Amino acid sequence: MLQSFMVNGILVPATRKEIIMNNICLEKLTWDTVDDVLKLKVSKEQKEFVAPNRDSIIDAYFALTEESIPVFTFGIYLGKKPVGFLMIGYDVPWAEQYYGLPRGYYYIWRFMIDKRYQGNGYGKEALKLAIDFIKTSPSGKAEYCWLSYEPENEVARNLYLSFGFEEKKELWKEDQEIPAVYKL
Ligand SMILES: CC(C)(COP(=O)(O)OP(=O)(O)OC[C@H]1O[C@@H](n2cnc3c(N)ncnc32)[C@H](O)[C@@H]1OP(=O)(O)O)[C@@H](O)C(=O)NCCC(=O)NCCS
Repeated sequence: MLQSFMVNGILVPATRKEIIMNNICLEKLTWDTVDDVLKLKVSKEQKEFVAPNRDSIIDAYFALTEESIPVFTFGIYLGKKPVGFLMIGYDVPWAEQYYGLPRGYYYIWRFMIDKRYQGNGYGKEALKLAIDFIKTSPSGKAEYCWLSYEPENEVARNLYLSFGFEEKKELWKEDQEIPAVYKL
């Protein structure tokens, strides 16, 4: 069914972008939704860019229980359909260890859209929602959000830079991911 909106009493058909914007949402992972996310995969060529979602959820468990790192895990949904996974941390110790970044940063730790759904604008919309969520200061105030990506991951790099993330090449060490920082 074609979606539409009422504008000043007139029914206006939604553009494709509006449909995406109104239907992409982040849902906190629960017992009921974790299986949705475990089924999502990236392509063979992208496996170097992001850990499998199962590993990410294990990482989240140990970060929380062993190190008391605040961590938020979300399914990315298009309406009721799971299309991706997002994991956000706060004040992770390796920001300082690896990159010399000060503590108290939010961290977009894992982010993926399933290979079947990429290239439709879902990643862009989910990243916007991720930043909106971080701006609510769920674990406390922070001045910055950071993330990192493999040097070969041009799609992710371009997406992050288009949002205003600033690449910190000066902090990058070979064999590591490139860090980038966003001023909240
Ligand atoms: C990075 C990722 C999350 C982007 O999600 P997505 O839903 O495919 O992205 P979108 O459709 O919202 O597109 C975002 C931008 O990337 C561009 N893009 C998407 N896929 C592309 C591709 N295969 N080649 C070139 N450009 C591409 C889009 O054109 C868009 O650019 P625009 O704003 O200039 O139009 C997704 O590609 C992914 O999951 N990759 C594998 C895992 C990964 O690398 N995660 C990030 C780890 S740091």
